[in-house]
Amino acid sequence: MPNHLIEDAPATRTALVVVAHPRPDSLTAHIAGLTVRRLTAAGYRIDLLDLHAEGFDPRMTAADLPDWNNRDKTYSPEVENHMRRILAADVIIAVFPVYWMQTPAILKGWIDRVWNYGFAYGRSKPRLAGKRMLWLGLAGAADDDGIIDIMRQALSAQLDDGIAYYCGLTQSTVGLLPGAEEKPQRLDAEGNLLLDDALTGAARDAHFAALEDRALRFVDDFLTGDRIPA
Ligand SMILES: Cc1cc2nc3c(=O)[nH]c(=O)nc-3n(C[C@H](O)[C@H](O)[C@H](O)COP(=O)(O)O)c2cc1C
Repeated sequence: MPNHLIEDAPATRTALVVVAHPRPDSLTAHIAGLTVRRLTAAGYRIDLLDLHAEGFDPRMTAADLPDWNNRDKTYSPEVENHMRRILAADVIIAVFPVYWMQTPAILKGWIDRVWNYGFAYGRSKPRLAGKRMLWLGLAGAADDDGIIDIMRQALSAQLDDGIAYYCGLTQSTVGLLPGAEEKPQRLDAEGNLLLDDALTGAARDAHFAALEDRALRFVDDFLTGDRIPA
């Protein structure tokens, strides 16, 4: 086969899909499942990292603290294994419920322990350069709750700027999915949490179909970006 054909052949790309929810029947897990199906249909090889199912321990350990004098430090075997999974991925997609305007502790702990000094940051040539990341966060607050804009900005500051940009990723996007609860939630002007009646029947179906659509649009837009050379 002539060389140029080998070079032009599309290599299978790998997506690391990180799920951070304790219940396999959660809406978060459902959205993660749809995401996996979309990625598979687009030709990606999937590495599914279900942090709870794999028993990931988010607590920092002495073995996994950075040694600022040694960026080549060998971390714990568990963390080194997660690092290999990240290196093998072209794209990383995290799916999680928003907890207190942030990622849940288990996802935060994965970042703290695994995205470590000398691996994710601290090198003149970032090892994660060229990778792209999508953060899909489900939030209980309703679409029209004023907190949603603030939440989007807060998540983007933490995840896009604070983590992905700091680690030299080529691109990072937050896809915020409000309205993830059966009972629409919002805060009133006095700060009281108001819970509407639970959605039922056709209204419920339409509500969650719209949320699914929005999630898949985030995935599709993200994948479109992957076809554009960085
Ligand atoms: C500890 C905790 C903190 C939460 N904090 C927020 C929050 O800051 N903003 C918000 O809109 N929803 C918040 N929620 C609601 C979750 O985002 C919502 O329940 C979840 O996205 C629904 O998806 P699930 O059914 O997959 O859990 C919180 C829920 C929990 C349990």
